[in-house]
Amino acid sequence: MKGTQTYISENKDRFVSELIDLLKIPSVSADPSFAGDVVRTAEIVASRLTEAGAENVEVCATAGYPIVYGDRIFDASLPTVLVYGHYDVQPADPIDLWTSPAFEPVIKKTEIHPEGAIFARGACDDKGQMYMHVKAFEAMMKADELPCNVKFMIEGEEEVGSENLGIFVENNHERLKADIILVSDTGMLSNDTPSITTGLRGLSYVEVEVTGPNRDLHSGLYGGCVANPINILAQMIASLHDENNKITVPGFYDKVINLTDEERAEMAKAPFSKEAYCKALDIEEVMGENGYSTMERGSIRPTLDVNGIWGGYTGEGAKTVIASQAFAKISMRLVPDQDPEEITKLFLNHFESIAPKGTKVKVTPHHGGEPAVTPIDSLGYKAASMAYEKTFGKKPIPVRGGGSIPIVAMFEKELGLKSVLMGFGLDSDAIHSPNEHFGLFNYNKGIETIPYFYSSFTELVK
Ligand code: BES
Ligand code: MN
Ligand code: MN
Repeated sequence: MKGTQTYISENKDRFVSELIDLLKIPSVSADPSFAGDVVRTAEIVASRLTEAGAENVEVCATAGYPIVYGDRIFDASLPTVLVYGHYDVQPADPIDLWTSPAFEPVIKKTEIHPEGAIFARGACDDKGQMYMHVKAFEAMMKADELPCNVKFMIEGEEEVGSENLGIFVENNHERLKADIILVSDTGMLSNDTPSITTGLRGLSYVEVEVTGPNRDLHSGLYGGCVANPINILAQMIASLHDENNKITVPGFYDKVINLTDEERAEMAKAPFSKEAYCKALDIEEVMGENGYSTMERGSIRPTLDVNGIWGGYTGEGAKTVIASQAFAKISMRLVPDQDPEEITKLFLNHFESIAPKGTKVKVTPHHGGEPAVTPIDSLGYKAASMAYEKTFGKKPIPVRGGGSIPIVAMFEKELGLKSVLMGFGLDSDAIHSPNEHFGLFNYNKGIETIPYFYSSFTELVK
């Protein structure tokens, strides 16, 4: 991989400026007003893949946003790595909180990123991380050191549930045949503590609606006499956790696989400073399920969180009113072996059962996804570990991740393939938040590390 690494160091600056160009396009999949930009991004990703040396590049139409496919097949007897990533991004709002515009990327130095970080929506999640793969591939092609076959599958609907990717995978088993799926859409512990994500949480997401009287009422004339949907919704939500911060939905924990004491002790070895954690978030104390550490609460334990709540009068000044309806969006992060559909049903039954007389409750399920795990004794994990060790000079720590990439479990079901999650972002990179950024160190390290995955994996499979 010598030629590859030389090529990478000689083209470093161009790799950064190309990513900056990609980040200027607002490929927000959730908001239809950006539809043209999302499609344009797919086309650009496709051309970049072709320029890098991919063949059979195709912008595959779906019922939603296209999936970009491309490959380089040398020999059917060689192993094949299928790279997955996404070119869509989260909405930029609240835009007022960005220190520079979300789609005008700039490089700024921070405490954590003294070498500079690119600030833009999608810098880390996932355009920056996805583009590392395109550049690593380019370098291996130019140096004539790509040791195996590669396929790329880059989608544009990850942030809205990957529904059409599911259909694409079902219909393209043959084209997507591979030995392993390689994904860079997660993070690592810190720039001097490399880690590999060995699991992702699943997701169940619902919207709830509580209806009381058939119209908004004067709170003086009717207050105290009828159920106030906002009061009721607040009470119902509060009752979803008990005094130990356990979730009260009956059956919620039934299928949770508890880690052994050994596994928990292993996890506890990862460096974590509660003080630094609190300081970074400007909070006095952490909070969560009793009996578990913060690291555990955020990875191996399931959660239930309100993501949004609204109803009644929220304008200027005071309006005395009892609203007819109240609403909330609730997410549940799931761990093996919880099943999202089953959890959604349990939630629905429970939530309806706790609604007092005089109110009506409606629960609408949104997209969800199953949890996934990558065992550390798999060839894919071993190859990734060897790759990080080469470029960081340290063995990476296996860490279960808190986020969700529902398609990972789907790949396993549909294609029978495990995914290796080689993420290079940091939790502090503010993904989904204002001022998302991606360290230049991280971007570059990613491009340097990926080629070693290919060589190690090819060696191990032989
Ligand atoms: N890349 C993230 C998931 C992630 C980030 C996993 C960091 C682990 C560490 C992905 O783009 C994402 O945001 N997923 C969503 C779920 C999706 C169904 C909208 C999530 O986790 O909320
Ligand atoms: Mn992502
Ligand atoms: Mn995301």
